[in-house]
Amino acid sequence: MKLLILGGTRFLGRHLAQLALEAGHELTLLHRGRSGPDLFPDAEHRIADRDGSLAVLEDGEWDAAIDTSAYVPRQVHAVAEALAGRVSTYQLVSTISVYADVNANRHGLTDETAEVQTLEDPRTETVTGATYGGLKALCEVAAWDGFEGRCLIARPGLLVGPHDPTGRFTWWVQRLLRGGEMLAPGDPDAALQCLDARDAAAWLLRQAEQGQTGVFNLNGPEAPTTMGDWLAAGAQALNSSAQPLWVDEEFLLAQGVQPWTELPLWLPRSEAGLHRIDIERALATGLQCRPAGQTFADTAAWAGAAPPVSAGPPRPPVGLSAEREAALIDSWRAASARP
Ligand SMILES: NC(=O)c1ccc[n+]([C@@H]2O[C@H](COP(=O)([O-])OP(=O)(O)OC[C@H]3O[C@@H](n4cnc5c(N)ncnc54)[C@H](OP(=O)(O)O)[C@@H]3O)[C@@H](O)[C@H]2O)c1
Repeated sequence: MKLLILGGTRFLGRHLAQLALEAGHELTLLHRGRSGPDLFPDAEHRIADRDGSLAVLEDGEWDAAIDTSAYVPRQVHAVAEALAGRVSTYQLVSTISVYADVNANRHGLTDETAEVQTLEDPRTETVTGATYGGLKALCEVAAWDGFEGRCLIARPGLLVGPHDPTGRFTWWVQRLLRGGEMLAPGDPDAALQCLDARDAAAWLLRQAEQGQTGVFNLNGPEAPTTMGDWLAAGAQALNSSAQPLWVDEEFLLAQGVQPWTELPLWLPRSEAGLHRIDIERALATGLQCRPAGQTFADTAAWAGAAPPVSAGPPRPPVGLSAEREAALIDSWRAASARP
């Protein structure tokens, strides 16, 4: 297969490129040459900022294009125009953040038919936490229009594993490796979802090979898991001596602890719908999720090799500092001891 990846040198796209080359596909990558300039010498690299001219795409034909780097609809329209009729199927990597209200249905799962967000100002191109989902929803519309239905929309949940530039999952790996008493947030029985980016990449590639179209949530694991079981799997895989101390969410919120960023992956009950995404469609089309322990172990090996941080947008700090965690544990003990 002739495959074009828009992106392909940082995280999800990097795993995709690796798998595509291993499978013997003829690979073209479009990127600016910043994130991993020396990666994949066996691929053809077309260097361009997709926000400018896409003249580098003037020639060539591809069986599939996988777009990992579109954040505003203009970028999708531009690619559709540049490729006009020279690509059989187009995959847009979207996100579960497109959903309007994953918390509306308190106990059920959110499937692909759920309502998506609309933006107050659909012309905005400022990508923030507040606009990211709505802009991706507009990218999806642009994909359907631009490629006249010959497209697959993938909506991943949290992607984890080696080469993750966000540091979110990696923070838990490093925290478990540090050992000792470890603040564990909220309820050990709370649902948790995330997907190894390598498993997401394998599924995307398989769909591209088959010319699959449609909308698919893309998350893991295959069978529902909980925060408690997930941390236990990580502790076992890393041979960690960390002892979880489960701390109520009301206490953490009252102390100003930021869900998702200060304690990555943790969400309070009011936002827990983000960990209840229906993945039946992806499973029915071949999604396979490796055991969590393997992702913990491989991420530890990767993070231990201390790779340079790849180029990308500046990111807010992730994870509690050891000092703040210790102070929170002390306060929690004091509060719990009060009659
Ligand atoms: N991480 C998650 O948990 C998560 C969850 C849900 C959805 N997603 C979605 O998954 C996708 C994958 O993200 P990723 O970081 O893993 O992708 P990636 O393909 O591994 O990295 C981004 C790529 O895009 C290129 N790029 C960035 N800006 C560009 C521009 N203006 N022009 C040309 N190339 C550009 C980068 O190379 P250069 O820097 O060299 O240009 C790099 O190759 C994103 O669309 C994201 O919204 C991620």
